[in-house]
Amino acid sequence: MMDDFAIEARLDEFAGETVMKKRIGFGYPINQESRLVSFYKWLWGSGVNLAMTDNAGDPFDMETEHLILNTLEYEREVIEFFGPLYGFEVDKLWGIVTFSGTDGNNHGLYFGSKYLEKKTGKKPVVYVSEAAHYSSMRLTDLQNLDMRLIPADVHGRMIPEELNKVLADDRPALMVFALGTTFKGGIDDMDAINAVLAGHPSIEVYRHVDAALFGGYIPHTRYRDMLNRKVHPFDSIAVSGHKFFGMDEPAGFFITTREIKENQNPFAVPYLNGSMPMINCLRSAMSPLKLWWIIKHTSEEDFVRQSTGMLERAQWLKEELTQMGWPAWLESASNTVYFKRPSKEIVTKYALAPDHDDRLGGDLSHIVIMQHVTKERLQGFLDDIKDHM
Ligand SMILES: Cc1ncc(COP(=O)(O)O)c(C=O)c1O
Repeated sequence: MMDDFAIEARLDEFAGETVMKKRIGFGYPINQESRLVSFYKWLWGSGVNLAMTDNAGDPFDMETEHLILNTLEYEREVIEFFGPLYGFEVDKLWGIVTFSGTDGNNHGLYFGSKYLEKKTGKKPVVYVSEAAHYSSMRLTDLQNLDMRLIPADVHGRMIPEELNKVLADDRPALMVFALGTTFKGGIDDMDAINAVLAGHPSIEVYRHVDAALFGGYIPHTRYRDMLNRKVHPFDSIAVSGHKFFGMDEPAGFFITTREIKENQNPFAVPYLNGSMPMINCLRSAMSPLKLWWIIKHTSEEDFVRQSTGMLERAQWLKEELTQMGWPAWLESASNTVYFKRPSKEIVTKYALAPDHDDRLGGDLSHIVIMQHVTKERLQGFLDDIKDHM
């Protein structure tokens, strides 16, 4: 066993490094401006910090008197807050707070495939762009679903004509729309893809949207219709909680309609109030509480300020790099600037994620402009690029 002094010394060193590094973590879509300072002040003295709480069962099943020590009612309120932002009707939606965006995609693929199977008696084919996050591919493999990977254009968007070439007319289609893609922030053109699908009227379609990062901010910008299912129909959406919202641990949410939830494999579980269509037995009780805290302490004006600020700084960075003669790109509605990969030293200093695209000259890096990625910090990065040119 280590003595207390050694334990604390080691942890203090780790804490110092964490606090220092979080300022310049530019390469991944994490909001390092914690929205939970006052939450922890409340939690510390509340007694909840010393209780084991968990969310088992359906947050939309109100007959849960025998389920105690949970935050199901907060979880439900979180889903009811976010659902309408994507065009879901409050009295027709269903959802859960997930462990991550990946967990939300797992539910999207699972719910989509079971819904289509129930409707058509056939297993669907999953169609997803090669630029989408790898979780959809991994999960398709995990769920033993057939997948067709559709080529993406240079902007990271699924090419609708390529989809048209491989659509299976005798099988239902489980579409995964990427909004936006992890590296380039490309946004699949739902209208163009739907036009292709409309040319195959015999195919039953389920549409799942992977909006892990963009799902957080798009509803608070002029691009909000992109993620409004009343404008572009979709059946379910997965968003990460730890990307835009300032959570301090992996989390997310999955939202769909009650109709889809009611057409799943039921697996009745009497001690959890009957039907359990979701994949995990227990979910975190803390994540819904933290998300609830965040939405109760953030005004719409504040969400708008954070979202538009990120997009403005992304535009500014792209223009500054271009003016310096450093090749850089930024997709519409995206907070992710991608550019010719700088020196190894800069890549390491700012924790820049790598990618490669021969169509754009080879090695690339990107910066995801989150709330903590200020102009001042970006200026430091630009100065570093200039020094190494
Ligand atoms: C587009 C996209 N989808 C899904 C994920 C996975 O989300 P999570 O890390 O919350 O599992 C990511 C992560 O970066 C992502 O960029």
